Amino acid sequence: MCGIVGYAGREESVPILLDGLYKLEYRGYDSAGVAVCRDGKLRLAKTKGYVRELDRIVDGGRLMPGSVGLGHTRWATHGRPTDSNAHPHISHGGKIAVVHNGIIENYAKLREYLTGKGFEFNSETDTEVAVNLIQHYYNKTGEILRAVASAARRMEGSYALGILCEDCPDMLIATRRESPLVLGAGDGGNYLASDVAALIKYTRDVYNLEDGEIAVLSESGVKVYNGDLEETAITLERVDWNISAAEKGGYEHFMIKEIMEQPEAFRKTVSPRVAEGRVTLDELGVSDEYIRNVSKIYIVGCGTAHYVGVAAKYNFEKYAKIPAEAIVASEFRYSGPIIDERTLVICVSQSGATADTIAAMREAKRRGARVLSIVNVVGSVIARESDWALYTWAGPEICVASTKAYSTQLAVTYLLTLYFADKRGAISPEEYESVVREISLLPGKLARVLKDKETVQYLASIYFNNEDVFFIGRNIDYALSLEGSLKLKEISYIHSDAYAAGELKHGAIALVSDGTLVVTVATYGALLEKIVSNAEEVRSRGARVLSVTTQSGAGRVEHVSDSVITVPDTHDMLLPSLGVLPLQMFAYYMALMRGCPIDKPRNLAKSVTVE
Ligand code: AGP
Repeated sequence: MCGIVGYAGREESVPILLDGLYKLEYRGYDSAGVAVCRDGKLRLAKTKGYVRELDRIVDGGRLMPGSVGLGHTRWATHGRPTDSNAHPHISHGGKIAVVHNGIIENYAKLREYLTGKGFEFNSETDTEVAVNLIQHYYNKTGEILRAVASAARRMEGSYALGILCEDCPDMLIATRRESPLVLGAGDGGNYLASDVAALIKYTRDVYNLEDGEIAVLSESGVKVYNGDLEETAITLERVDWNISAAEKGGYEHFMIKEIMEQPEAFRKTVSPRVAEGRVTLDELGVSDEYIRNVSKIYIVGCGTAHYVGVAAKYNFEKYAKIPAEAIVASEFRYSGPIIDERTLVICVSQSGATADTIAAMREAKRRGARVLSIVNVVGSVIARESDWALYTWAGPEICVASTKAYSTQLAVTYLLTLYFADKRGAISPEEYESVVREISLLPGKLARVLKDKETVQYLASIYFNNEDVFFIGRNIDYALSLEGSLKLKEISYIHSDAYAAGELKHGAIALVSDGTLVVTVATYGALLEKIVSNAEEVRSRGARVLSVTTQSGAGRVEHVSDSVITVPDTHDMLLPSLGVLPLQMFAYYMALMRGCPIDKPRNLAKSVTVE
């Protein structure tokens, strides 16, 4: 995600833009910039770093007078955080400036097309392709709105664009597809923003731009056109959120906001990497020969990232037939791992800055392994130092407890599993197609599970006073149990542990007594009867059983459960993506009912950059 702000009115624009960018920094904060149009000239200031760095450069706006302007704070997806990759981007020829939020999926083809037309590029971003495409059509039509409409039709993927044109110095243009943009109608000025947090201080009368619409903002007002440039009437809505609620999109905490963002985050991470029913990871640049020769995979990470590795281990072995081991980074580096040139080490990290994972990565390379990283923060140490990097496009994850990062990391491991399995001839075409089809259906299924948050909230109201909660599961459900237990303990401070269900009888069951809550994760159908037996074991010793299972499993676990949460059926490989949602929401509501702070739990940090 990135943050966009725009203003056209009587006031100096840059102070307003800076104020809005500070409010949107939670959407992205690795670089920032502003552009103004004054006396028929575009002027630009942009820098790597936080908004405060930009503020210093433009001296609070005093060095950039102009009453029509655009601002942007970036969360890098294409191209590392650098001054040149920061937004706004100016077109070749310098007449048009653009800020962008989203992912233009066909940017490489469009860049090649424009290069062939003589356009030159100064950045690695998909945004510079957008601004030059608009310039291309402006050169052809001489009409900026027509140019924007024509460019929009050529771009695939998601975008929210703010546009300035030197030849139209009194107006600001905006258009969007999938990425949000909201317009604000004020007294003496009109506003554009990625969300209301940036403009609520100035106006509460807003209009959420629809996909495909083109807006023109000027001091005198706001006009909206459809894709055929026919003006459409708009109805302003009154927003009554306070600023804090606005930053969280109206949710009470970033955690629940980020839980609810998972369908979209999953789709954004996967859809650019699946085309015509095939997984396309050519961006990796890994040779087929290397993939065919991999003899062992270590998946290394910490906390939630490690639990992604535990799930991925089952999938790599089952579908790609590659020996795989998930190991916590802090253990890996001292365990004397057996590594040779056919060993692949996959480092999973949301921040890309976790000290233990960095150290493990460096140890792996020192021992001769190739390293592939799955990272959310573009240009982070782990991404830069690994041989190959696959980014999750989850956007900034503000809550310390990881949710959408987990889901998008899982998504990338599914793609890798399929990609490797296919290259090694380890998976049948039928199963490959079945998984890819199910992946495309997953965002809708994720959204369905999240709609049922009231059921989970009710169950939390029954159990939130429990001081011990155990999670049990088998196979891929064991991986899920580990993550569910971590979510609960780190935000509710309830003592919780996860056990491979078959292990209970070897000791842990001694902990079970009357009223102990055992969450039975039972989505993996092949071992359902086994997990049912384990639930009976604990129930016969007084435990309360909350089962998480699929719709097809519900009838087989109900008789041993006090409560059952069901998720839609899907391919076995993908079960953790659905099963984790009730566990995340359960942890959230248990912590909420215990009065815990949620987004910033005691003793924890979002990125553990010390060993
Ligand atoms: C999980 O909710 C925690 N935030 C923590 O376990 C986290 O996953 C771990 O510290 C790894 O962080 P990383 O993904 O940024 O490397």
